[in-house]
Amino acid sequence: MRANPLAPERLAVPADVNALAPTVWPSSASRDEHGVLRIAGVSARALADRFGTPVYVVDEADVRARAARIRAAFVGAFGEVGATARVYYAGKAFLCTEVARWVVDAGLGIDVASGGELAVALAAGPDPALIGVHGNAKSDAELRRAVEVGVGSIVLDSIAEVDRVATIAAELGRIQPVRLRINSGVHASTHEYLATAHEDQKFGVPISQAPEAVAAIRASGALRFLGLHSHIGSQIFETEGFAAAIRRLMALHAELLRGGPVPQLNLGGGFGIAYTDADDPMPVEDIADGMAAALAESAGELGIPVPDVALEPGRSIVGPAGVTLYRVEVVKPLQVHASGDVLATRTYVSVDGGMSDNIRPALYRAEYSARIAGRVSDAEPVLARVAGKHCEGGDILVHAEYLPADTAPGDLLAVPATGAYGWAMSNNYNWIPRPPVVAVRDGAARVIVRGETIDDLLRRDAGIEGSTTT
Ligand code: LLP
Repeated sequence: MRANPLAPERLAVPADVNALAPTVWPSSASRDEHGVLRIAGVSARALADRFGTPVYVVDEADVRARAARIRAAFVGAFGEVGATARVYYAGKAFLCTEVARWVVDAGLGIDVASGGELAVALAAGPDPALIGVHGNAKSDAELRRAVEVGVGSIVLDSIAEVDRVATIAAELGRIQPVRLRINSGVHASTHEYLATAHEDQKFGVPISQAPEAVAAIRASGALRFLGLHSHIGSQIFETEGFAAAIRRLMALHAELLRGGPVPQLNLGGGFGIAYTDADDPMPVEDIADGMAAALAESAGELGIPVPDVALEPGRSIVGPAGVTLYRVEVVKPLQVHASGDVLATRTYVSVDGGMSDNIRPALYRAEYSARIAGRVSDAEPVLARVAGKHCEGGDILVHAEYLPADTAPGDLLAVPATGAYGWAMSNNYNWIPRPPVVAVRDGAARVIVRGETIDDLLRRDAGIEGSTTT
């Protein structure tokens, strides 16, 4: 079959429109003898019948395995160069108490970015020393709570924050370990690598101001300096950006060593995952080796010991373990001008969710893939666009994917790689309730975050009798 001229170059006509690319789907995903998608031994049909659609499905063993593998990769690679590595899970990708427990079981800490994330992480019951606190605009209440419960680190994001945390810690009679987030000027992402242009953003302290901030930290009896922090971006596919940040951070680290101890270096997260089978992320072991080599080389050049490191991956732990199941509501083939007066067919497949459960395609033009989940089909592949149910043209879930020509209302449709920044960024646009999150493991399914109901939403409207607005 010839490619549809409306299809992006990356998208080949699939040899099998039912295939589940192993880089994109949870490792347990397969089709059963009836062709129904199964995740961790639970069929998509059973999930849809029991929990309704849309539903976020997360493969528990897959999250645990990814967390353990990532930790082992960094501990191993940095161990080779004489450093320890501590891995924090960046909870912003998807945080609930279950996921927090899975990653803590795997030996990780938890990085939180708000008072809400801190509350959820604490509710999971870990030693608060395993928690790191981020935020470029933390409130006094958030800082106070973090110090009070004894979090292991607070990442200071501005010079002004040094005094604020020192005052709170002194009031509470604590010595709070802190890191200083540096805006290294390195920004890396899949599509872009700009080594100099990113001084113009809100996070961190410019390198030039860091010595002053660290002097203030060291002068305070209520703070303990853990070291520098750098996060250069997200969904990164290569190690060059990390190596560039390491070189810049290490030069500063060496300068600071002259004034006292600098025990650690936190290199953030940002490791990319496959959303479609055109994505080819580096194995985490190779990323870890590349980062460790860059760190050791830098330390050698500067004549300083290799510091211990910390890392904060989010997406790469939960992203590939999540699948969202939808029900197809409407199928609409449209004749669209491909180029000049060449017409081609794009089939709009509209489902019962959308930008309220996954805003990433609308917000970042993020690419996803999709498969029919409740059966297999031997119909020919047609170019489809999976759209949501919101009143907005940009409400797209999958911009381009080949789906079987017999895709019809009532079919179950699965979108893989939705475990990170899907539920976490969900919203109630058009008063649509958030779907539940269901964990699957060894053939069993259980709700780990309840879905919202329309009644939940109505309870917040002050004009409705029985609302809980006061
Ligand atoms: N550490 C810090 C300080 C961060 O700001 C982030 C992500 C991470 C770690 C984790 O990065 P990851 O390993 O998940 O790439 N909503 C966007 C992603 C925003 C990432 C923000 N910071 C998305 O959906 O692609």
